[in-house]
Amino acid sequence: MAKHTVVTMPGDGIGNQVLPEALRVLKAVSFDAEYVHADIGWECWINEGNALPQHTLDLLAKHKLGLFGAITSKPNKAAQEELKPELRGKGLVYYSPIVTMRQKFNLDICMRPCVGFVGNPLYYIRKKVAAGFDEPGFDEPKIDTTVFRQNTEGMYAGIEWTNPPEIVRAALNSHPKFKSFATVPGPDVAASVRIITRPAARRIVTAAFEYAKKRGFKGVTICEKPNVVRETSGMMEETAKEVAKNYPGIALWSTNIDAQLMWLNKNPEDYNVIVASNLFGDILSDAFAGLVGGLGFAASGNIGEDVAVFEPTHGSAPKYAELNPPIVNPIAMILSAAMMLDHVGESAKADRIRQAIAAVVKEGKVRTYDMMRLPGGPKAISQGAASTNQMTDAILEKLR
Ligand code: NAI
Ligand code: MG
Repeated sequence: MAKHTVVTMPGDGIGNQVLPEALRVLKAVSFDAEYVHADIGWECWINEGNALPQHTLDLLAKHKLGLFGAITSKPNKAAQEELKPELRGKGLVYYSPIVTMRQKFNLDICMRPCVGFVGNPLYYIRKKVAAGFDEPGFDEPKIDTTVFRQNTEGMYAGIEWTNPPEIVRAALNSHPKFKSFATVPGPDVAASVRIITRPAARRIVTAAFEYAKKRGFKGVTICEKPNVVRETSGMMEETAKEVAKNYPGIALWSTNIDAQLMWLNKNPEDYNVIVASNLFGDILSDAFAGLVGGLGFAASGNIGEDVAVFEPTHGSAPKYAELNPPIVNPIAMILSAAMMLDHVGESAKADRIRQAIAAVVKEGKVRTYDMMRLPGGPKAISQGAASTNQMTDAILEKLR
């Protein structure tokens, strides 16, 4: 019997193209695992009225480890129209399966590494101080940032209303600051509730510090806005200060989300570990991912106490899903699989994979269309871009 069982959920669109590539790489490093397929995504919605079938939940509950590709989601109207006829008009509501999965298994820690690979044409560069206006002379600073994003609370908890019910309005009215909104008619008022709880804050901050300790980084940055959003960002920062006391060798730095976005464009190499609430973490991780190559390179882990699911940050990219050969970059998915290896204590194998990717990128011979800054599409291959498959082949070559 294999040591691990991984629930594989390719999902929709390019999820089906990149997930098998990650499995090829896992095999090449002799990861001792067997794989069970589970359905998720749009087809499940159309045919069963549920994008995350119970069977898939059961498999995840049983095996506790998942690799996920991507799903397609569409606005409510399209969701209703595409349901198979016998399911229509039954009041079924589409919910994003990945959001549901995070909530069901309390996958509250979202880890998003944004690590630069030298030689990547999409990598951030900065002009050298001495270089004049027209002179060449660039730095390629070493970006190795991991964003720890709280994954279940905050602005994405989904507690929101347009035209809040009377009881909610009454509660809001009890706050002195609501006075200026009190005369606005209900239908013209939208409210989203940002809830932060201390235990969840403690868990995400602790995860960030543990990671910093493991990697030997000298600090963790809490990125919030406690000077304005006093209660919720305040609780995040206060909790971070508390947790930091358990890690005497690691500094706690504090930045505001707006200033942080400016600084990441000036000195991104100064930030190795950043922790933030849900919305801010989502923004930060996309911003950092943009510096190191974008969606083709952005991996993530959704980690709970019991279950963990690893996935590229990108979606199903439907416009490329039908291309043959596939052209999308499998690196984000392969890096997600490497994160899964870290999670189960197979970091040596994970490091081998990352080194193989680094070698391919540095060599610069095999590049998918995104790395060549070509428009995606059927012509990309004839313009010199590697296919999805060829990129994986190149990585496998380095693993030999
Ligand atoms: P997307 O991430 O699917 O694609 C945006 C663009 O990024 C693509 O058109 C492509 O140019 C590029 N791209 C994405 N992955 C790439 C890769 N591996 N290699 C090279 N280029 C890549 O986001 P979009 O177009 O906004 O959404 C498409 C569908 O995916 C929607 O239905 C959306 O709801 C869903 N989605 C699902 C996510 C998930 O499964 N976690 C996350 C984001 C979007
Ligand atoms: Mg996002």
